[in-house]
Amino acid sequence: MSVPWVYISDLAKHEEKEVILKCWMYNKRSSGKIHFLQLRDGTGFIQGVMVNGEVPEEQFSAARNLWLEASLEVTGKVRRDERAPSGFELTVSDLRIIHNPTEEYPIGKKDHGIDFLLDNRHLWLRSANQLAVMKIRERIIWSAREFLHNGGFMLVDSPILTGAIGEGASGLFEVPYFDMGNAYLAQTGQLYAEAGAAAFGKVYTFGPTFRAEKSKTRRHLTEFWMIEPEVAFYDHNDNMKLQEDLVSYIVGQVLKHCGSELATLGRDIAPLERVVPPFHHITYDEAVILLQKLGSSITYGTDFGGEDETILTQQFDRPLFVECYPKKVKAFYMKQHPEREDLVLCDDLLAPEGYGEIIGGSQREDSLELLHARIREENLPEESYSWYLDLRRYGTFVHSGFGMGIERVVSWVCGLPHIRETIPFPRTIYRLNP
Ligand code: 4AD
Ligand code: MG
Repeated sequence: MSVPWVYISDLAKHEEKEVILKCWMYNKRSSGKIHFLQLRDGTGFIQGVMVNGEVPEEQFSAARNLWLEASLEVTGKVRRDERAPSGFELTVSDLRIIHNPTEEYPIGKKDHGIDFLLDNRHLWLRSANQLAVMKIRERIIWSAREFLHNGGFMLVDSPILTGAIGEGASGLFEVPYFDMGNAYLAQTGQLYAEAGAAAFGKVYTFGPTFRAEKSKTRRHLTEFWMIEPEVAFYDHNDNMKLQEDLVSYIVGQVLKHCGSELATLGRDIAPLERVVPPFHHITYDEAVILLQKLGSSITYGTDFGGEDETILTQQFDRPLFVECYPKKVKAFYMKQHPEREDLVLCDDLLAPEGYGEIIGGSQREDSLELLHARIREENLPEESYSWYLDLRRYGTFVHSGFGMGIERVVSWVCGLPHIRETIPFPRTIYRLNP
């Protein structure tokens, strides 16, 4: 029987058997008689032990000259080893070098600055921490889709090249569009999700979104991924319940499936274990009073800064809904509060431990007259919204939805201080490469 090619993550099924790994060498230690090859294949890490005399002589000496990140095909026997992080070790019987670099790998063992690492993002992704972050990212996306699919939501793919402004006139990327002037890169899929909700009931969009904001904070990217559910006949409270259930499900799935990745990142999981309903609720009005008591210089009627959100979330042990912001700090499509003309029926969901906003959501303005008035007030080009107003002309309906920023959630769940490590290739105002 020929020796099977297996992945490191599957080694438990091959204990005491011969296997082939196709992998890279991320580190090496040698004593005179033994090489300890640290191997990785994208699914995990394992140590290969190569003993002089137990492999062909020319292979043993070739291994002496391997550079970091050489690509290899390694044959060996899988042995249980309680001391190994993966629980296994490979006793090497054959080593085939696919490619041995001719120069030193740029990311060495010494500490590198963040700019150097970001310049080498295409290589940095190979490190153990980055693998852990990307696995958690993948689990977050997968579980969000699973939750929505199982809940009867239809995926509606919204366009990225758009004619109507989704969130606000500042922060738009424009691209030349044939003879039609400029198109905008989508800031949100929401307006299309609303059309989807009228057509299909429960829907969500999921795609990259773009903001040309000159924010250099630890929370902002110029390109980020957003998942945006939208539900016909859901009001503001139904909407928050859906957010609470979705976020609880995602965090629960990460805890269930990504224990070793969270451990790799040194993430304290106690705060994540508390992410179960019910979340806390506070109104914007109450939040301002609380912030002022805590020493913030916020004035009533303005939006929270990142620092305000940090302070707020530190007062609560679970995610926090802040409800009903002033109309003038929020987007044009939000429904006016029934008792307070100056407020809208919206919520921001703030992640605990200082992380802040991960979701922005609202009930949508379903009155044709009020929505039309808001579009005019904001000086938005009315002709681009004619199709959107049709949703209020033909069978208008109470409906609500929200947008959850994937990178914000990854940052919080992984316990990363900065959003730049949460996406494979981050885009910020300073970075378009790699
Ligand atoms: O609050 P925002 O701007 O809401 C919308 O775009 C709505 N149209 C969503 C909807 O109701 N369908 O953005 C939603 C979320 C934020 O809570 C945040 O998680 C993320 O998107 N986000 C960003 N993430 C990274 N970088 C940025 N510059 C972000 N801007 C927003
Ligand atoms: Mg927001």
